[in-house]
Amino acid sequence: MTCEKEFIMKISMGFLVLTGIVHPGCSKDALQKELSKDNGVKNVQVLADTGKVLQFANPNVIIGAAVNVKLLATDGIYRDLVKKQYNSISPENAMKMINLQPQEGNFDFSDKTIENVALDFGKKRIHGHTLVWHRGLPNWVKNLETTTLPNGTTRAQQMDSILSRHIRTVIANYDNPASIYKDNNGKPLLKSWDVVNEALDDNGDYRATQNISNGEDKGSIWYRTIGKSYVQKAFTYARKAAEAQGDTDLKLFYNDYGHEYSAKKLDSIYKMVMALKQITFNGKPIIDGIGMQFHININTSLANIKNALIKMKSTGLLIHIAELDISLNKPGLPFSAAALDAQKQKYKDVAMLYRKYVPANQRWGITLWNVGDKDSWLTYTSNTQVDAACLFDLDYGQKPAFFQFYDGLNLDIPASY
Ligand code: XIL
Repeated sequence: MTCEKEFIMKISMGFLVLTGIVHPGCSKDALQKELSKDNGVKNVQVLADTGKVLQFANPNVIIGAAVNVKLLATDGIYRDLVKKQYNSISPENAMKMINLQPQEGNFDFSDKTIENVALDFGKKRIHGHTLVWHRGLPNWVKNLETTTLPNGTTRAQQMDSILSRHIRTVIANYDNPASIYKDNNGKPLLKSWDVVNEALDDNGDYRATQNISNGEDKGSIWYRTIGKSYVQKAFTYARKAAEAQGDTDLKLFYNDYGHEYSAKKLDSIYKMVMALKQITFNGKPIIDGIGMQFHININTSLANIKNALIKMKSTGLLIHIAELDISLNKPGLPFSAAALDAQKQKYKDVAMLYRKYVPANQRWGITLWNVGDKDSWLTYTSNTQVDAACLFDLDYGQKPAFFQFYDGLNLDIPASY
């Protein structure tokens, strides 16, 4: 019997297929090779579907995924999986400025995939991502710094009015009282926004200077033109826009990455959000929560994750693990069974740490960045990088990480955490 046939038989008989269980005639490497596509991640360690569903693992932790609107429209397996597994969805790219305001003043809200999916799938929550970012910008914004200013306007004024119009218009669209996209209480399905995304660099300084790499500016045009007040302005505009629509519940987040590897950045984020928390509009703080992206890898230190969660929780704000994925080979580790074991363990650890250190009333939930390795933004970033960072594999089979994550959400938390 070939390894391939044995694999298929085990799956069809509902047996577990573990890397450790190998037909005597096959070496571990051969099995792995047979189960792998060119990029080495296909079907590795797929386990039989036991009917476990993440959204029901723990009523106190909402589980979301970043979703791709094209796949939702075209791939039935993907769509069914999203429907089944999650109770919150973040648009991976669909609500970035490049898509919502492709031309100046020309807002495009015609793609209703996200809203329809949320509605069709039992009124799932939508987490808006993202109003202000240095990336995901339309060309007309990217090129603005080199254009002639309208008479009597400074660059700062010009960008400020672009910022405020974008935020006002986008929030109003999803908060429209006449919208059909409502939950059972008549409230908008979109309940939260990443208002500002990634304003700080790894040193905890504001992203500023233009620095183009792979066609993307690592600096922020918002900072260069408006100054650091753009962050506070953006939150104020967002709160004002929500209140103007009669939405007093919209949750406003500052979203970023690196809390777990840069102490300086963690500290700067803490200071920034604490300052934003002091600023109110209509008697309400302009910020409600912190998005901790957690694009981590199997080597990320648990102590650092724990420390970051504790520090962010101490702000009293809501905490959203907003973009979780756990990559196998960053930086440059070889793909191996040991790496997959480390990955599954880390998924469990993150869920346990979140539950242990973030009280239920401060949890906005955990959102996975992408559903499977097939749609992951990481797996295909280059020919050499094999991240396989998700809970589902290239065929949307459940990886061991899926079950461990489920357990991490569900089981009693050992004292060791
Ligand atoms: C990524 C998407 O996944 C990609 O498809 C896109 O090409 C670039 O953006 N931090 C964020 C997300 O806040 O918006 C990014 O999403 C991943 C990193």
